[in-house]
Amino acid sequence: MKRPYIICHMVTSLDGKIIGDYLKVERAAYFTEEYEKIHGWYGSKAWMCGRVTMEEHFTFGHKLDLAQENIEMIPRIDYVVNKDAKTYAIAVDPSGKLGWTENSIAPWNEDRTEDHIVEVLTEQVSDAYLAHLKKIGISYIFGGKERLNFSLVVEKLKKLFTIDKLMLEGGGFLNGSFLNEGLIDELSLVLVPIADTASNSVTLFETSSYLNKRQPVNFYLKDIEKLDDGGLWLKYVTKHD
Ligand SMILES: NC(=O)c1ccc[n+]([C@@H]2O[C@H](COP(=O)([O-])OP(=O)(O)OC[C@H]3O[C@@H](n4cnc5c(N)ncnc54)[C@H](OP(=O)(O)O)[C@@H]3O)[C@@H](O)[C@H]2O)c1
Repeated sequence: MKRPYIICHMVTSLDGKIIGDYLKVERAAYFTEEYEKIHGWYGSKAWMCGRVTMEEHFTFGHKLDLAQENIEMIPRIDYVVNKDAKTYAIAVDPSGKLGWTENSIAPWNEDRTEDHIVEVLTEQVSDAYLAHLKKIGISYIFGGKERLNFSLVVEKLKKLFTIDKLMLEGGGFLNGSFLNEGLIDELSLVLVPIADTASNSVTLFETSSYLNKRQPVNFYLKDIEKLDDGGLWLKYVTKHD
């Protein structure tokens, strides 16, 4: 395969929500811990999240001050700082909004490692943002002129960073984009036995307004494991063996 094997790994409520008050209920903590353990179990060298998720959990909305004069034009060519990192965090940030101040994400539990950051950009990004990424040593790749082509993105991840297995870890709009391009091979779902009941929160797969809705996508059950306290770990694949 010219691209990595792609596993979408997520936690949802019984009503398919990936965020919401159900995650604040005391018993939900056990399921998010299981989610992290399963991440470690897959032994993948790379995980990917969308800009909204990265902002919420890692850059905490930090805004960069990039108002400098005389920034030279930087060619829209992929920039690889570390092709031999043990693990990678891939940030889908089409127009360069994430306020990174370091080039790696420190481990936040025993199932996570120090991950070298790779930004996925479109050519619309500013020269000032590219100069900032270069300055702090973040790798970046281009996935399209104005829109991202994820088939191209994942081929580049394999070619430039030897990523053979990729954990796609949300949120719903990024997952939906991958599903839309037929790029999900496996779904690893930690099902929390709580119904969130919100009618306007993000679900497992969402379709951005600029994408055409695809036909329903079939999944086939590969494995099922009972977790404690009534939870399930479901593994589905999109192709029969
Ligand atoms: N339950 C779980 O397992 C789990 C896992 C991960 C995240 N989450 C939660 O999910 C929530 C965020 O989900 P979300 O769906 O709103 O956001 P998201 O998928 O994290 O990020 C969406 C953003 O990524 C970029 N993007 C995604 N698809 C794109 C495409 N096809 N082309 C170009 N850019 C694309 C866009 O960035 P721009 O807006 O900059 O253009 C888009 O707004 C957070 O609250 C997070 O905590 C839950």
